[in-house]
Order: sequence, then structure tokens, then C-alpha cells
Amino acid sequence: MDISLHFDSSKEAQGDLLVVAAFNKKDGEGKKESTKLVNNHWPKHVQDAFAGLKQAPNYKGNLGETLSFTSLDGGRVIIWGLGQKSDVTFENLRREAAKIFKGLAAEYAHVTIDADSFTLKNDFGRTVHALGEGLLLANYGFDKYLTVKRKVALKNVVLYSKSHGRSKAEAQKQLDRAQTIAEAINFGRDLVNEPPNVLHSESYAKILEQDAKSLKRVKIKILNKAQIKKENMNLLLSVNAASAYEPRVVHLSYEPAKANSKTKHIALVGKGLTFDTGGLSLKPGASMMGMKFDMAGSATVYAAFRAAVALHPEVKLSCFLGITDNAVSATATMPDSIIKARNGKSVEILNTDAEGRLVLGDVLDYACDQGPDIVIDAATLTGAMLVAMGTEVCGFFSNNQKLADALLHSAGQVPEYMWQLPIVQEYRDDIKSQVADIKNIGSAGNAGSAKGAVFLEHFIKKGVAWAHLDIAGVAGDQAFLPYCPPKGASGIMVRTLVEFILNGKHAL
Ligand code: BES
Ligand code: ZN
Ligand code: ZN
Repeated sequence: MDISLHFDSSKEAQGDLLVVAAFNKKDGEGKKESTKLVNNHWPKHVQDAFAGLKQAPNYKGNLGETLSFTSLDGGRVIIWGLGQKSDVTFENLRREAAKIFKGLAAEYAHVTIDADSFTLKNDFGRTVHALGEGLLLANYGFDKYLTVKRKVALKNVVLYSKSHGRSKAEAQKQLDRAQTIAEAINFGRDLVNEPPNVLHSESYAKILEQDAKSLKRVKIKILNKAQIKKENMNLLLSVNAASAYEPRVVHLSYEPAKANSKTKHIALVGKGLTFDTGGLSLKPGASMMGMKFDMAGSATVYAAFRAAVALHPEVKLSCFLGITDNAVSATATMPDSIIKARNGKSVEILNTDAEGRLVLGDVLDYACDQGPDIVIDAATLTGAMLVAMGTEVCGFFSNNQKLADALLHSAGQVPEYMWQLPIVQEYRDDIKSQVADIKNIGSAGNAGSAKGAVFLEHFIKKGVAWAHLDIAGVAGDQAFLPYCPPKGASGIMVRTLVEFILNGKHAL
């Protein structure tokens, strides 16, 4: 589906369908309260055709209320109700755009959206951005393995504006940005939805290598098992011990054109478990289902990296992905094993299902060696995150409040739900081991997500600002967001990360 901007009036009438937004106003109080349609911003021919409709007096332009008719020149028109203008946010527009896609894509090939009528706060650029993002993110389905594919008739959408010609350049920039980010998110969703018999560590690394080749100013390094051994990433190797495939560490780095010694360096780190059986601490069947998505952290940070570098950030950006599956065999790591991590700390592995923190531990240590100012990791780390936050909110931890605040600000901008959780000394004490420096689980049933966070904290070098995003809840099914698939990978947190990389306050 192609989305383009048009400011030339000949385009207005083109297409199989014209979508026009309606608002309303509440008048009076109590029993006398009435809702009045606001439609003086509509194109003249739509106003004229609407005025002649029998249903016109009953149409109030409430949020979600639509009315379709044939205009005087024979074109189809749909009026899309948004409710009281002062209540409508750009997020509402994004969600409505997704609903427009879902409502019309199967039937119409060429749709024109009267973008002027949707414009909020007289900010045409942000309006275009929200509409574009909603449409493009909704245009996603994982039908690769279906004999009968999903039906998308929609070929192109024209965002038409008569009155915002002066904002043309800015609006085009916003649309391009929405496109870059949505494409990266949809690419990441595909990776997560791919089944584990197809996407295993070796094939995953190859797909990423191939994709990253097209990114400008990006260097690619992929560590194989021998190189991972040389790096002493024994925690990662312990998780890989039963796998039919070699582990991989993907290391991508980007430098802006004008880099100097003051240029900030942000490192993204992702958990890439192509499947998590739990290992010898085997998951019960029902909990194992869906564990192909245990690489969503790596797909999230890769998608953010891919989109961000295409938008030329002024920071150095690195991306580190720890990739393996967590399998079962005679060579699987046994609970009670003590393993020496890359950073020299000894780890007692009491539960082989707490494997994400092992993989990330070594990869975080490797990432810190590249000298970043900021490290942000994303991982489907704990089931406890779902208990705490559900599938709606991403919980995160940080060792630096300025970084945490900047991330929260970025999340609010895009917007995505994010909530900071605390780290206290007692959590740290809880993962002390009798026989090793640390153990990989805390006391059963208590603050499970935080115990994961304090484990990771052991692998962050002094002076590095770090945040850990536990995306176990938000990475999957998003029934309530129209621009996310109700089933499968969501792509949530990519937009927050891109916003942070491009506009975050990096002066820590
Ligand atoms: N990949 C899981 C976390 C997970 C579980 C994500 C359910 C989404 C839904 C992780 O590797 C894991 O199994 N964690 C354990 C940790 C425990 C053994 C301390 C968990 O959450 O049960
Ligand atoms: Zn696990
Ligand atoms: Zn896992």
C-alpha cells in the first residue's frame, strides 16, 4: 500500500472513496444538552450532498459513528466521526486511521482521505504522521503460511489537503518518518511471528545480516560459536548447550557523519531466544506454547536500530543481539551448575528457564566494552511482568533517573504505555548465592521481574547509564490497539526507542 500527499485539487475527487472527518459540539446542560455536528470544514461538494440526505439530521459525528453516501458527482464518500474536537488526540487519529484501514482495505483500491478535515491543533505535520502511522501499522498480517491470504484491495491512499500547502515539506518529512518506522516495525513483527523450525539462531542471524547490508553507515559483525567461546561468553554458551544450532551474537554499529569525541553512544541490547523450552527446568506444555516470541527483545531493538539509522540520528548507535534457543538434550546445562560469566563473575544456575538473563549478562558485558554512554536492553524476561502490568504496559528498570525520565518522556510522545519499577538493595541481596557470586533466580514468587533486573545489573560497567525494558507482556497479542494485530507480535516499544534515539535528552 502506497500513501502519498497531494495538495493539487484535481486529486480530490479521484479514488474510489473519499474519507472526511466530522466533529461535534455539545450545547446546553442537563436535559437540554444536545450534540451538534460540526461540518463547516468539509469540502463544498460533500457538504452539499450531505445536506440532501435523509439521514443527515440524525448524524452527529460521534467517535466511531460513520455515514456513507454517494455524492452528487457519483463518488462514494464516508464521513468518519471523531467526536468533540477538544477531546481528540493524535493517538485517537492513529487509532482511527487503523480502523479506516481495517474497514475499507478489503473493498476499495484507491482511497482519498481529506486530511484537512482530520487536522488537529492546526498541526498538519503531526496529523499526517498519525494518519500515516495508523494506516501502515494496521496494514500487517502474517499470512505467509496460509493457503488463502488476507485480502487487501487497497493499493493507494492519497492524503489530500487544500489548505496546508505551506506545510508541504514538513508534512512529507513526517509521512516519510512514519513510513520508515512502520516498515521497521512490520519487519520486526515478521521475525517474531516466524516459527522456530524456520527461524533458529543461524537462520535468524543470516536474515539480519542480509537486511542490515542495506543500511547506510552501518558495520556488521556476527560472532559464531568459536568466536563466542573466545569471548568467554560462557553464560550464553550454557544456554546454547543443548541446541542443534550454534549461538550467534549480532553486533551492528552506526556512526553519524559528524561524529566527534563528544558524540554520545547509545547501545541497544536484545534477548534473542528463538525458542524457550525452559531447558531441563522444562516449561509445562501450555506455557511453552508461544515461546517462539522469546526473541522479541532482539527484534524490537533491531527494528528500532533499523528505523533510527535511516533517520540519521546524531548519536553513535550500536545494537547487540544474543541469539540461541533454550533446548533440552543430554548436553543441556543442569540446574546446580556454576558457570563463569564473561565478566568473571560466577553464576549458580538454579533454574534453566531463567535463561534470558544469562544470555543478556554476557552480551551486556560485551556491549559495555564498546564504551557506550547509555545501554538499553529489551527482553521478554519474566512471566512476572505480565502479572504486574498485563499485556498493556511495559515495565522497566534503570540505574539512572535522568535516563528513566527521558525514556518515559519519549514513551509519552509516541505514545506507548511505560512504567518504571524500583530496584532496592533487598532485591540484590536475594540473588546472592552460597556457592557462587550470584544465582539466576530469587526467592520463589517474589518480585520476579525485579530479580531479573538486579541480575542484569551485575553486567553493567560502572558509569554506564542503563535501562532494562521487560517486554514480556507487551510484545505479544494487543487486542485493544487497532494498529496492532490482535494475535501475534505487536512491535510495541519500537516507536518509543526510535523517539528516544532521535529526540531523547542524551546529556546525562
Ligand atoms: N521467556 C520467559 C519469560 C516469559 C514467560 C515471557 C511467560 C512471557 C510469558 C523466561 O525465560 C522465563 O521463563 N522466565 C521465568 C523466570 C523464572 C524461572 C525465575 C519465568 O518468568 O517464569
Ligand atoms: Zn525461560
Ligand atoms: Zn525466555
